[in-house]
Amino acid sequence: MTPTDQKPMQFEPGVPAAEGMIPLCVPEIRGNEWKYIKECLDTNWVSSVGSFVDRFEQELADYVGTEFAVATCNGTAALHIALLVAGVQPGDEVLVSTLTFIAPANAIRYVGAWPVFIDAEPDYWQMDPQKAIDFLEEECRWSDGELRNKTTGRRVKAILPVHILGHPCDMDPILAVARKYDLVVVEDATESLGAKYKGRMVGCLGDIACFSFNGNKIITTGGGGMIVTDNQTWAEKARYLTTQAKEDPVEYVHSEIGYNYRLTNIQAAMGCAQMEELDEYIAAKRRIAADYAESLSEVSGIILMKEASWAFSISWMYTVLVDETLYGMNRRELLRRLGKMGIQTRPLWQPVHMSTIYSECWTHHCGSAERLYNQAISLPCSVGLSQDNLSKVIDSLRALAQG
Ligand SMILES: Cc1ncc(COP(=O)(O)O)c(C=O)c1O
Repeated sequence: MTPTDQKPMQFEPGVPAAEGMIPLCVPEIRGNEWKYIKECLDTNWVSSVGSFVDRFEQELADYVGTEFAVATCNGTAALHIALLVAGVQPGDEVLVSTLTFIAPANAIRYVGAWPVFIDAEPDYWQMDPQKAIDFLEEECRWSDGELRNKTTGRRVKAILPVHILGHPCDMDPILAVARKYDLVVVEDATESLGAKYKGRMVGCLGDIACFSFNGNKIITTGGGGMIVTDNQTWAEKARYLTTQAKEDPVEYVHSEIGYNYRLTNIQAAMGCAQMEELDEYIAAKRRIAADYAESLSEVSGIILMKEASWAFSISWMYTVLVDETLYGMNRRELLRRLGKMGIQTRPLWQPVHMSTIYSECWTHHCGSAERLYNQAISLPCSVGLSQDNLSKVIDSLRALAQG
């Protein structure tokens, strides 16, 4: 049993919450999903090619504002391929946010490279650009057209900022330092489709970017992902690698190791239906965030999530910090108590540098991420969250507060 007395499986993306629970974040399926999927079944176009795959790719590219999009079976596969086509080699180092779901760090290891973990800034909880710059300026040396970590001797090849929880990273300083040292920028935009940085969509800010459509994302295909880029060579290579590196349309001829990473037409059909609703979903998420912010601002010990003046957040996962001294209990106890009241919540991810599997990797002063991890709790914020259930969460948080 978990501390909330819920079965662990009930925390998985897309798994409905137990009967009577207010779920953390469940998909919203209210448009053309049935119609488009039925079309796939009726026409037998069920596998990894088909008009919905092409349409979903085109719609994503148009929405984000990139030239190309390549659909993948999930966001982790998208990150793996993005790193490969961007030229990250075994033994390279890649700067990555430590406060993130673990997938981007794993993708860095899939290509044989090493993550360098960068702290979160305390205001918006995204990769701290100054700490990334400090690492590059102080711990690395530029020589012969390459940047190398002075201690490990490894080449530093890329920066992988993760736009977490629906809010963008502060990209200008990251892009500037990447240009200075000829580093590739791979955006992990999996949690933030539709978010904007200084008016521009996340996903078109760096050199290549990835999205996820798993069960808890702003739009879902059950499982799915997308790579977006303006680089035609990389897009073509991504398409090739995700389809088992097939050289010939007819013959089974291969000269590279490929992957079976394509999205199916059925999943893409769902994606096309979900895309039609995306802007409404974002509006709903932002309304929920605004309601929480207004109602919880007076609760002592609850520190609200902020939106930067340069950001348009999609408020994908509404999260607050709990100050134990002021609130009267820590976030672990709060999670347990809310669970008993029928409200499903979750902590943020343990910063990746704290995972035993990554304990040997370079970690650049990650104290802020550790503090955020200890205090953060994500609250129910499904697109379809009813006003009654939202009020119940707010009332419960007020009732549990000290004094
Ligand atoms: C930040 C981040 N990166 C990558 C992924 C991986 O996406 P997927 O689950 O589709 O593989 C996720 C979510 O699951 C995520 O939250």
